[in-house]
Amino acid sequence: MRLLPLTEGLHSAEAFSRPYLESFLELVRSIERSPLRYANALDGYLIATVFEEPSTRTRLSFEAAAHRLGARVISISDPRSSSSVKGETLSDAARVMGGYADLLVWRHPRDGASRRAAQVAGVPVINGGDGRLGHPTQTLVDLSMLHQKWGVIEGKTVGILGDIQNGRTARSLAWSLAVLGARILLLPGSGLDWEPGFENRLMHRFAYRLKRVRHPLIQEWTGNPEARMLEPKGLVQGELFGVGTSALHGLDALYLTRLQEERGAKAHRGGYPGITVEQLKDPLLQDTLLLHPLPRRDELPVAVDEDPRALYFEQANMGPRVRQAVFLSLLCPEKVDLPALNPLPSGNPEHFLASCPNKNCITHAEGLRPPWRVEGKGKRIFLCSFCDVPLEAPYVGCLSSRKVHPAYSPLVQQIRPENLVPFQTRDQAEKEDYSWGGG
Ligand code: NCD
Repeated sequence: MRLLPLTEGLHSAEAFSRPYLESFLELVRSIERSPLRYANALDGYLIATVFEEPSTRTRLSFEAAAHRLGARVISISDPRSSSSVKGETLSDAARVMGGYADLLVWRHPRDGASRRAAQVAGVPVINGGDGRLGHPTQTLVDLSMLHQKWGVIEGKTVGILGDIQNGRTARSLAWSLAVLGARILLLPGSGLDWEPGFENRLMHRFAYRLKRVRHPLIQEWTGNPEARMLEPKGLVQGELFGVGTSALHGLDALYLTRLQEERGAKAHRGGYPGITVEQLKDPLLQDTLLLHPLPRRDELPVAVDEDPRALYFEQANMGPRVRQAVFLSLLCPEKVDLPALNPLPSGNPEHFLASCPNKNCITHAEGLRPPWRVEGKGKRIFLCSFCDVPLEAPYVGCLSSRKVHPAYSPLVQQIRPENLVPFQTRDQAEKEDYSWGGG
């Protein structure tokens, strides 16, 4: 069995570099201008779409894209009709499906599922949505819409409203906006904010800073007078930064999301935030593009549909074009000449932690111990390689010196990343022949 690294397929927005996204968005434009240019590009290919959660747009737009490129498609569209209801693991199913098709598109309720499928399938896997973790191709749709309207996304301000704790589209979009250098205004509903670990990682990776902004609409939406704005340190401010909160003057786009009830989310005190026709009269929203990955609930009333700022149906219509570009980039890269996707930093297959703290991680359902990967230059953060959740590792060893130190020790900062070995207890390290190095 092939273990990490996961270089094949598209699993996470962390695979996107700025050159990749910029070329990708141009490719989508070129497909839009000449829809027949790649009409036979995937002749002879067989693509499987395996959807273990409900889907309308994502699955059908992948299938429409495959047909438009000349590929054939086999599909599991009803989660109840797959062998997972008989208790089959994702690993077994992916291994078999990889023998049937040249590429798999997989949607699954567990975080990290597409990465696991890619380890065993032997063919590229595209993440069609995995648990709360990510939905990278929806993000490509979202960005394509913004790119069509603005050309350049860098420096724009995009608000993300609603259930950002459980909404995978929100996480993938936020990460990708940071790749492109946009400002991200976080507008979580009460009790529906994401965990600080994700945001800290984003800020660190892209050298972003946190600013607090206020506006009466922020109070109406979130119940808080102010909200967090993440922005690149390099952006010209025109104002002194760092003291108190500043008034929010403009919002270029507002990305609405639904409450993810199937992931246990509940609207808290004050209800769930959405947009109203009345709010659309506020000068703040005068030129704000309204996006939504759909399906919508009450957060986006139909009365808004005829408003020229409402772009969500146009956005959804971009799905097949965008997914054509995704297939082309993975199956015939020589035809489209895109920069490579970033490989996800791989875990060390020799070292595992006992278990991942994220109960929804795919490792729990598949009986896997999580290999870790490491981030951060100063303090090292160990993450589950499948679901990116930080792992508890109070002791850290060095593979070459065979010494173990407390995680906070400055000595740990000197260990080269490939030599780092996390331990949950000192005992565990000593059992593996590491001697105490102090610190
Ligand atoms: C999203 C999803 O499945 O995460 N839907 C989609 O792909 N357009 C958003 C959602 O279901 O809320």
